[in-house]
Amino acid sequence: MMADTALLKTPAGWGDINEVVYAPPQNVAGDATWLSVFCMWLTLPISCVQGIIGGLCQFFMAFFVLGCYCCQCIPQWLCCSSMGSAECGRPCILAPAWWRYVIGGLTALIAQSRSRLALFIWEWKAFGNGDHFWHGEGFWSVTYKECSDIMKSNQRRSSSFACIQACVPDLFATNILLFLSNNGPDSEWAYLRSALHSTLLDHGCRDYIDRQKKLRSLVANDWPNPKISDLSDIDKIRLTVSKCVFYMMFGIWFSKEDAEILKGWRDMAVYFVLPRLVHRFLFNFGICRVQGLRVKTVGLIEKHGLESFIMDINEKLPEKYRRTPIVKLCDEMMFAVGFAGIGGTSACCETVGAFLQRKIPEEASAHLINFEKFPTNESMVEAFNSNPIAYIKESCRIDPPVTSATNVSKEERVIKLRGRDYTMSENTLNQYVLSMANRDPSIFPNPDVFDPSRKELSQALTWNGAFGTPDEEKVYPRICPGRYLSLDVALAVVGHVTGLKEGSYKLP
Ligand code: HEM
Repeated sequence: MMADTALLKTPAGWGDINEVVYAPPQNVAGDATWLSVFCMWLTLPISCVQGIIGGLCQFFMAFFVLGCYCCQCIPQWLCCSSMGSAECGRPCILAPAWWRYVIGGLTALIAQSRSRLALFIWEWKAFGNGDHFWHGEGFWSVTYKECSDIMKSNQRRSSSFACIQACVPDLFATNILLFLSNNGPDSEWAYLRSALHSTLLDHGCRDYIDRQKKLRSLVANDWPNPKISDLSDIDKIRLTVSKCVFYMMFGIWFSKEDAEILKGWRDMAVYFVLPRLVHRFLFNFGICRVQGLRVKTVGLIEKHGLESFIMDINEKLPEKYRRTPIVKLCDEMMFAVGFAGIGGTSACCETVGAFLQRKIPEEASAHLINFEKFPTNESMVEAFNSNPIAYIKESCRIDPPVTSATNVSKEERVIKLRGRDYTMSENTLNQYVLSMANRDPSIFPNPDVFDPSRKELSQALTWNGAFGTPDEEKVYPRICPGRYLSLDVALAVVGHVTGLKEGSYKLP
């Protein structure tokens, strides 16, 4: 209804967001068809028994992925492995391998206190503690060197997320920056990234600097008499971060009602990592909510008459990359703002807020975080106020808002899993696990210990590159373009609560 009314006053060529978001699903794998989902429901007890065993026992998890040794004698290991199924393009006939595998993955996640990092470490051990493990449809790289090398390279990308084919166009918008290869200055990625940066994210431009100066007082108006314990109020953090991110980009301080919509990007984060098979198994409950979120988010741009920002960006693109209808670009841009910007920055503030109270964040695992250097809450607050940027960077090294990212292998390569060689063909999905790289002991001694004074802090790959090192943008071409914005927002929100003196710090 909102979109219909908005259509009446939107500029020519703008279009209707509903037609973009509710277009038919693309690239549905055989095991994610409704037939497979129906059979999964019918045989659920069998898959559950197997899946629960796999999720609790590393040997069985590896077996679900690799199959038995005999399977490798059969071309493409057809018989029972999820890796074999991925190699064959996930046909419907091999769907049972996925039914138990997804239940196994879910069980393992719950058993690892719902911490993605703890799950990755558990899976890495299941595959023999080497340089790689397997999850979803591809192999995962865990060493600092390999992750950093991938981040420095021209990456091949596809519509995939969390090392599985992304659900497009219903869950993810198509052609978002994350899905585009950075293969040269004439690439779609290069044009889109530069347009986004110069229009909305340039931290050196006048608008940005003026807004950054006002941010803290806007937060203060909304949040009187702050106390450290307020940082446990996750809803309040998410709401404030949503307002801040939008204000910094568009110059409008949202009402609670509008900010509630944007907050949905963080609240619904869990839906983005699920494969289509699971979404359909849950009757597309998550996908429908995200579709509604995308429509309402574009509705905010229309409601506040901000279409010209998007029209400008579209104009700046070479003709071959322009979007038709233009609302599609708005959806893609707001996807980046919501998913990467609001999701990432909220997660960052939630982690910092928990650390300041010596608490373990909701999605982290207690045995992976050591607060020995800061025995009291007061010592934590003091550490934050004396060097807030180091505090934020170290919190996010230990508990990164974005734990890993998906690229596509550009060549055939051989990797070791459980001591055996496996050939990964060109175009196999490859995840680089920056949350594990950030704990590589060869770079970060005592990696579990929270220590904002560590010398190698800027080596952390949290923002998709070593943020704070010389020529970071040239060395890491895909380094997060919102890194300064995320720091500015975290400083304003958390700094307001800790009583941080404004201007007492300098951004890297
Ligand atoms: C603490 C907060 C944040 C963290 C840790 C973070 C981290 C990251 C990481 C790891 C990536 C790479 C993901 C991938 O390639 O799959 C990324 C990409 C990106 N981030 Fe952030 N981000 C944060 C906040 C933001 C903010 C505030 C914005 C903007 C509003 C933003 C916009 C983007 C965009 C557009 C990309 C895609 C860049 C590309 O592919 O070239 N991020 N970010």
